[in-house]
Amino acid sequence: MRIIKTKDYQDMSRKAANIISAQVIAKPDCVLGLATGSTPIGTYKVLVERYQKGDLDFSGVKTVNLDEYRGLTHDNDQSYYYFMMHNLFGQVNIPLENTHVPDGTEPDAKKACDDYEAVVENMGGIDLQLLGLGHNGHIGFNEPADEFPKATHCVDLTESTIKANARFFEKIEDVPTQAYTMGIGTIMKAKKILLVASGKDKAEIVKKAFCGPILPQVPASILQLHPDVTIVVDEEAGALL
Ligand code: GLP
Repeated sequence: MRIIKTKDYQDMSRKAANIISAQVIAKPDCVLGLATGSTPIGTYKVLVERYQKGDLDFSGVKTVNLDEYRGLTHDNDQSYYYFMMHNLFGQVNIPLENTHVPDGTEPDAKKACDDYEAVVENMGGIDLQLLGLGHNGHIGFNEPADEFPKATHCVDLTESTIKANARFFEKIEDVPTQAYTMGIGTIMKAKKILLVASGKDKAEIVKKAFCGPILPQVPASILQLHPDVTIVVDEEAGALL
């Protein structure tokens, strides 16, 4: 596990974007696993700037996103599909048919999740998976549990996650209580993993996840077992390392 400590959010975003850019340049038809949340927004911004300058080409890239709220439609501005369109897909030359986000509108949870697991598998594996980190150590929407969930599944969001994500919704009752998420097994199959974390409210969980014991109660701690993980933190998030 490589830990890169950066100065601030901007520096973190640039360093994370460097790693993604290197992947796209080295393998123009790579499969990128993508994440939502506020942390990777700056990373996407740098990638868009590089595309606009002509330094990056997404025409051959394929993507699979980690997760989606159950029940939100594509045009809901809180859906992860909408987030990705707004922050990346709509701003670069990636063919939309090459992008994949779990279908939050599929009411049959088992079907939505099995179909998505098959999509990831049929792409031949993820070359580089980008991850954020929840305050309780969740990755994707894999919440603390008694065991590590393997494949894409439907998850009941914890109260702390619902509260943390409420800032994006008008009222807390609007926050979906369930999501479809890649499993820990799906994530761990990626060839390379890049996790970004920023801000002092993440310092405690960064230390717990990457310096503490590997436990399903701290889902991100499993990354310690992956052979190729890079963690990019800003000074505040890395303060306790
Ligand atoms: C959500 C997402 C995660 C993300 C986490 C942290 O719950 N499902 O993928 O990593 O939030 O978000 P933030 O980066 O806004 O702290």
